[in-house]
Amino acid sequence: MTSTLVFYSQFDSFEEWRDLLAPQLPGVHICQEQDIDDPDNVHYVLGWKPPQGFFARFRNLKLLVNLGAGVDQLVGRDDLPKVPITRVSDPDMGRMMASYVLFAVLRYARDIPAFERAQRERRWHYLHPRVPASIRVGVLGLGELGAYAALELARQGFDVRGWSRSAKQLDNVTCVNGMDNLNGFIASSDILVVMLPLTLQTRGLLNAERLALLPEGACFINVSRGAVVDQAALTAALTSGQIAEATLDVFDREPLPPVDPLWALDNVLITPHMASIAIPASAAQQIADNIQRLGRGEPVLHEIDPQRGY
Ligand code: GLV
Repeated sequence: MTSTLVFYSQFDSFEEWRDLLAPQLPGVHICQEQDIDDPDNVHYVLGWKPPQGFFARFRNLKLLVNLGAGVDQLVGRDDLPKVPITRVSDPDMGRMMASYVLFAVLRYARDIPAFERAQRERRWHYLHPRVPASIRVGVLGLGELGAYAALELARQGFDVRGWSRSAKQLDNVTCVNGMDNLNGFIASSDILVVMLPLTLQTRGLLNAERLALLPEGACFINVSRGAVVDQAALTAALTSGQIAEATLDVFDREPLPPVDPLWALDNVLITPHMASIAIPASAAQQIADNIQRLGRGEPVLHEIDPQRGY
Protein backbone atom coordinates (compact mmCIF):
# COMPACT_ATOMS: atom_id res chain seq x y z
CA MET A 1 0.00 0.00 0.00
CA THR A 2 1.47 3.39 -0.96
CA SER A 3 1.33 6.19 1.56
CA THR A 4 -0.23 9.45 0.51
CA LEU A 5 0.64 12.92 1.77
CA VAL A 6 -2.10 15.46 1.15
CA PHE A 7 -1.14 19.11 0.85
CA TYR A 8 -3.57 21.91 1.63
CA SER A 9 -2.90 25.64 1.60
CA GLN A 10 -4.50 28.60 -0.09
CA PHE A 11 -1.30 30.61 0.28
CA ASP A 12 1.57 28.26 -0.54
CA SER A 13 2.66 26.61 -3.78
CA PHE A 14 1.83 22.90 -3.91
CA GLU A 15 4.29 22.33 -6.76
CA GLU A 16 7.17 23.93 -4.85
CA TRP A 17 6.60 21.80 -1.74
CA ARG A 18 5.99 18.63 -3.76
CA ASP A 19 9.18 19.07 -5.79
CA LEU A 20 11.27 19.49 -2.62
CA LEU A 21 9.61 16.70 -0.64
CA ALA A 22 9.27 14.06 -3.36
CA PRO A 23 12.99 13.20 -3.75
CA GLN A 24 13.23 12.72 0.02
CA LEU A 25 10.10 10.63 0.30
CA PRO A 26 10.24 7.90 -2.32
CA GLY A 27 7.13 5.76 -2.07
CA VAL A 28 4.98 8.60 -0.77
CA HIS A 29 2.38 9.94 -3.18
CA ILE A 30 2.23 13.71 -2.68
CA CYS A 31 -0.94 15.30 -3.94
CA GLN A 32 -3.75 17.74 -3.34
CA GLU A 33 -7.20 16.82 -2.15
CA GLN A 34 -8.71 16.41 -5.62
CA ASP A 35 -6.04 13.86 -6.61
CA ILE A 36 -6.37 11.45 -3.70
CA ASP A 37 -6.81 7.91 -5.05
CA ASP A 38 -7.81 6.16 -1.83
CA PRO A 39 -8.47 8.19 1.35
CA ASP A 40 -7.43 5.15 3.40
CA ASN A 41 -3.88 5.61 2.08
CA VAL A 42 -3.64 9.15 3.40
CA HIS A 43 -1.12 8.92 6.21
CA TYR A 44 0.14 12.48 6.29
CA VAL A 45 -1.38 15.93 5.92
CA LEU A 46 0.75 19.02 5.32
CA GLY A 47 -1.68 21.84 5.71
CA TRP A 48 -2.38 25.46 6.51
CA LYS A 49 -5.91 26.20 7.68
CA PRO A 50 -7.66 23.21 6.09
CA PRO A 51 -11.45 23.68 6.05
CA GLN A 52 -13.72 22.16 8.69
CA GLY A 53 -14.31 18.47 8.00
CA PHE A 54 -11.08 18.13 6.00
CA PHE A 55 -9.74 15.22 8.04
CA ALA A 56 -12.96 13.18 8.26
CA ARG A 57 -12.12 10.84 5.34
CA PHE A 58 -8.58 10.09 6.47
CA ARG A 59 -9.10 7.18 8.87
CA ASN A 60 -5.45 6.10 8.73
CA LEU A 61 -3.81 9.43 9.32
CA LYS A 62 -0.50 9.21 11.23
CA LEU A 63 0.82 12.76 11.22
CA LEU A 64 -0.51 16.25 10.76
CA VAL A 65 2.10 18.85 9.84
CA ASN A 66 1.08 22.46 10.36
CA LEU A 67 2.44 24.47 7.47
CA GLY A 68 3.47 27.32 9.71
CA ALA A 69 4.52 28.19 13.24
CA GLY A 70 1.24 29.06 14.97
CA VAL A 71 -1.16 26.16 15.49
CA ASP A 72 -4.04 28.12 17.03
CA GLN A 73 -6.39 27.54 14.11
CA LEU A 74 -5.79 23.79 14.41
CA VAL A 75 -5.99 23.17 18.14
CA GLY A 76 -9.18 25.21 18.47
CA ARG A 77 -11.16 23.03 16.07
CA ASP A 78 -13.44 20.16 17.05
CA ASP A 79 -12.55 17.84 14.13
CA LEU A 80 -8.88 17.48 14.98
CA PRO A 81 -7.60 13.93 14.39
CA LYS A 82 -5.89 12.28 17.35
CA VAL A 83 -2.46 12.00 15.74
CA PRO A 84 0.82 13.80 16.47
CA ILE A 85 0.79 17.38 15.23
CA THR A 86 4.04 19.08 14.35
CA ARG A 87 4.77 22.65 13.40
CA VAL A 88 7.45 24.13 11.21
CA SER A 89 10.49 25.09 13.27
CA ASP A 90 12.84 26.69 10.85
CA PRO A 91 15.72 29.13 11.39
CA ASP A 92 14.97 30.78 8.04
CA MET A 93 11.44 31.45 9.22
CA GLY A 94 12.93 32.97 12.38
CA ARG A 95 15.23 35.15 10.32
CA MET A 96 12.38 36.32 8.10
CA MET A 97 10.30 37.20 11.15
CA ALA A 98 13.23 38.98 12.79
CA SER A 99 13.75 41.06 9.65
CA TYR A 100 10.16 42.30 9.81
CA VAL A 101 10.44 43.08 13.52
CA LEU A 102 13.77 44.84 13.01
CA PHE A 103 12.30 46.89 10.17
CA ALA A 104 9.32 47.94 12.29
CA VAL A 105 11.39 48.73 15.41
CA LEU A 106 14.09 50.61 13.49
CA ARG A 107 11.44 52.60 11.66
CA TYR A 108 10.17 53.88 15.00
CA ALA A 109 13.58 54.16 16.64
CA ARG A 110 14.72 56.41 13.74
CA ASP A 111 11.44 58.42 13.73
CA ILE A 112 10.78 57.52 10.10
CA PRO A 113 6.96 57.96 10.30
CA ALA A 114 7.50 61.58 11.39
CA PHE A 115 9.76 62.16 8.35
CA GLU A 116 7.24 60.48 6.05
CA ARG A 117 4.56 62.86 7.28
CA ALA A 118 6.85 65.88 7.01
CA GLN A 119 7.82 64.95 3.46
CA ARG A 120 4.18 64.80 2.39
CA GLU A 121 3.98 68.44 3.56
CA ARG A 122 7.34 69.43 1.96
CA ARG A 123 8.51 70.25 5.48
CA TRP A 124 12.16 69.96 6.68
CA HIS A 125 11.61 68.44 10.10
CA TYR A 126 14.83 67.86 12.05
CA LEU A 127 14.56 65.39 14.93
CA HIS A 128 17.73 64.62 16.82
CA PRO A 129 18.50 60.87 16.50
CA ARG A 130 18.27 58.81 19.68
CA VAL A 131 20.83 56.16 20.58
CA PRO A 132 19.35 52.65 20.56
CA ALA A 133 20.34 51.99 24.18
CA SER A 134 17.91 54.72 25.24
CA ILE A 135 14.94 52.89 23.70
CA ARG A 136 13.27 50.11 25.69
CA VAL A 137 11.98 47.41 23.37
CA GLY A 138 9.76 44.79 25.02
CA VAL A 139 9.35 41.47 23.23
CA LEU A 140 6.25 39.74 24.50
CA GLY A 141 6.77 36.02 23.98
CA LEU A 142 10.18 34.36 23.81
CA GLY A 143 9.41 31.23 21.83
CA GLU A 144 11.52 30.32 18.85
CA LEU A 145 10.54 33.38 16.82
CA GLY A 146 10.39 35.82 19.74
CA ALA A 147 13.80 34.80 21.07
CA TYR A 148 15.36 35.15 17.62
CA ALA A 149 13.92 38.64 17.17
CA ALA A 150 14.93 39.69 20.71
CA LEU A 151 18.55 38.66 20.07
CA GLU A 152 18.63 40.53 16.75
CA LEU A 153 17.25 43.65 18.45
CA ALA A 154 19.88 43.32 21.18
CA ARG A 155 22.56 43.16 18.47
CA GLN A 156 21.33 46.56 17.30
CA GLY A 157 22.03 47.94 20.77
CA PHE A 158 18.46 48.46 21.98
CA ASP A 159 17.57 48.05 25.65
CA VAL A 160 15.74 44.79 25.02
CA ARG A 161 13.48 43.15 27.55
CA GLY A 162 11.62 39.91 27.02
CA TRP A 163 8.59 38.45 28.74
CA SER A 164 7.56 34.82 28.65
CA ARG A 165 5.29 32.53 30.63
CA SER A 166 8.12 30.34 31.90
CA ALA A 167 11.62 31.52 32.75
CA LYS A 168 14.00 32.08 29.81
CA GLN A 169 17.59 33.30 29.51
CA LEU A 170 18.92 35.19 26.51
CA ASP A 171 22.23 37.02 26.09
CA ASN A 172 21.86 40.79 26.39
CA VAL A 173 18.11 40.57 26.91
CA THR A 174 16.57 41.29 30.31
CA CYS A 175 14.12 38.41 30.70
CA VAL A 176 11.17 38.40 33.06
CA ASN A 177 8.44 35.81 33.28
CA GLY A 178 5.03 35.06 34.69
CA MET A 179 1.76 36.95 34.91
CA ASP A 180 2.92 38.82 38.03
CA ASN A 181 5.54 40.59 35.94
CA LEU A 182 3.43 41.28 32.87
CA ASN A 183 1.97 44.67 33.79
CA GLY A 184 5.32 46.11 34.86
CA PHE A 185 6.85 44.78 31.65
CA ILE A 186 4.24 46.51 29.49
CA ALA A 187 4.61 49.74 31.46
CA SER A 188 8.34 49.84 30.72
CA SER A 189 8.20 49.17 26.96
CA ASP A 190 8.67 52.17 24.67
CA ILE A 191 8.16 49.78 21.78
CA LEU A 192 6.15 46.63 22.47
CA VAL A 193 6.47 43.70 20.07
CA VAL A 194 3.78 41.02 20.41
CA MET A 195 5.14 37.56 19.56
CA LEU A 196 2.93 35.33 21.70
CA PRO A 197 1.14 32.26 20.41
CA LEU A 198 -2.65 32.50 20.54
CA THR A 199 -3.86 30.17 23.30
CA LEU A 200 -6.71 30.15 25.81
CA GLN A 201 -4.39 32.06 28.16
CA THR A 202 -3.29 34.71 25.68
CA ARG A 203 -6.61 35.42 23.93
CA GLY A 204 -7.46 39.03 24.74
CA LEU A 205 -4.40 39.30 27.02
CA LEU A 206 -3.69 42.83 25.80
CA ASN A 207 -7.02 44.31 26.84
CA ALA A 208 -7.84 48.00 27.32
CA GLU A 209 -6.43 48.04 30.88
CA ARG A 210 -3.11 46.52 29.86
CA LEU A 211 -2.76 48.69 26.75
CA ALA A 212 -3.32 51.72 28.99
CA LEU A 213 -0.18 50.73 30.93
CA LEU A 214 2.06 51.46 27.93
CA PRO A 215 4.05 54.68 28.33
CA GLU A 216 2.33 57.64 26.68
CA GLY A 217 3.40 57.73 23.02
CA ALA A 218 4.60 54.12 22.91
CA CYS A 219 4.79 52.16 19.66
CA PHE A 220 3.10 48.81 19.21
CA ILE A 221 3.96 45.96 16.85
CA ASN A 222 1.92 42.78 16.47
CA VAL A 223 3.27 39.90 14.38
CA SER A 224 1.65 37.00 16.21
CA ARG A 225 -2.14 36.80 16.22
CA GLY A 226 -4.73 39.57 16.21
CA ALA A 227 -6.86 37.96 18.90
CA VAL A 228 -4.10 38.34 21.52
CA VAL A 229 -5.10 42.03 21.50
CA ASP A 230 -8.44 43.76 22.06
CA GLN A 231 -8.50 45.36 18.61
CA ALA A 232 -11.20 47.92 19.51
CA ALA A 233 -9.17 49.06 22.53
CA LEU A 234 -6.01 49.24 20.40
CA THR A 235 -7.85 51.32 17.79
CA ALA A 236 -9.09 53.68 20.50
CA ALA A 237 -5.59 54.06 21.98
CA LEU A 238 -4.15 54.80 18.51
CA THR A 239 -6.92 57.29 17.81
CA SER A 240 -6.34 59.16 21.07
CA GLY A 241 -2.57 59.06 20.57
CA GLN A 242 -1.92 57.23 23.85
CA ILE A 243 -0.25 54.69 21.57
CA ALA A 244 1.60 56.80 19.01
CA GLU A 245 2.22 54.30 16.23
CA ALA A 246 1.45 50.70 15.35
CA THR A 247 2.69 48.18 12.84
CA LEU A 248 0.14 45.41 12.49
CA ASP A 249 0.55 42.24 10.46
CA VAL A 250 -2.29 40.33 12.13
CA PHE A 251 -5.88 41.16 13.00
CA ASP A 252 -8.83 39.64 14.82
CA ARG A 253 -10.48 39.16 11.41
CA GLU A 254 -8.41 38.48 8.30
CA PRO A 255 -8.56 39.85 5.70
CA LEU A 256 -9.11 43.06 7.67
CA PRO A 257 -12.53 44.26 6.39
CA PRO A 258 -12.43 47.44 4.25
CA VAL A 259 -14.71 49.20 6.76
CA ASP A 260 -12.33 48.66 9.66
CA PRO A 261 -11.32 52.01 11.23
CA LEU A 262 -7.66 50.91 11.47
CA TRP A 263 -7.26 51.41 7.70
CA ALA A 264 -7.88 55.15 8.04
CA LEU A 265 -5.35 55.82 10.82
CA ASP A 266 -2.22 57.42 9.46
CA ASN A 267 -0.20 56.27 12.48
CA VAL A 268 -0.81 52.61 11.59
CA LEU A 269 1.12 50.51 9.10
CA ILE A 270 -0.91 47.51 7.96
CA THR A 271 0.57 44.45 6.25
CA PRO A 272 -1.44 41.39 5.19
CA HIS A 273 -0.16 38.66 7.57
CA MET A 274 3.13 38.05 5.79
CA ALA A 275 5.75 38.89 8.43
CA SER A 276 7.04 35.34 8.14
CA ILE A 277 6.09 32.20 6.29
CA ALA A 278 7.16 28.58 6.19
CA ILE A 279 10.02 28.52 3.69
CA PRO A 280 10.00 25.37 1.54
CA ALA A 281 13.74 25.25 0.78
CA SER A 282 14.67 25.12 4.43
CA ALA A 283 11.61 23.49 6.02
CA ALA A 284 10.96 20.58 3.62
CA GLN A 285 13.87 18.62 5.08
CA GLN A 286 12.48 18.55 8.61
CA ILE A 287 9.05 17.53 7.38
CA ALA A 288 10.55 14.66 5.38
CA ASP A 289 12.69 13.72 8.43
CA ASN A 290 9.63 13.48 10.61
CA ILE A 291 7.85 11.23 8.13
CA GLN A 292 10.94 9.02 7.98
CA ARG A 293 11.11 8.98 11.79
CA LEU A 294 7.53 7.73 11.93
CA GLY A 295 8.46 4.98 9.47
CA ARG A 296 11.26 3.90 11.84
CA GLY A 297 8.94 4.01 14.82
CA GLU A 298 10.76 7.01 16.32
CA PRO A 299 9.03 10.00 17.94
CA VAL A 300 8.59 13.04 15.71
CA LEU A 301 10.34 16.36 16.38
CA HIS A 302 8.65 19.75 16.88
CA GLU A 303 5.46 18.17 18.14
CA ILE A 304 2.99 20.58 19.65
CA ASP A 305 0.80 20.01 22.68
CA PRO A 306 -2.84 20.58 21.65
CA GLN A 307 -3.83 21.24 25.28
CA ARG A 308 -1.17 23.88 25.77
CA GLY A 309 -1.80 25.30 22.31
CA TYR A 310 1.79 25.59 21.05
C1 GLV B 1 2.02 32.33 10.43
O1 GLV B 1 1.29 33.10 10.93
C2 GLV B 1 2.47 31.13 11.08
O2 GLV B 1 2.00 30.86 12.19
O3 GLV B 1 3.29 30.41 10.50
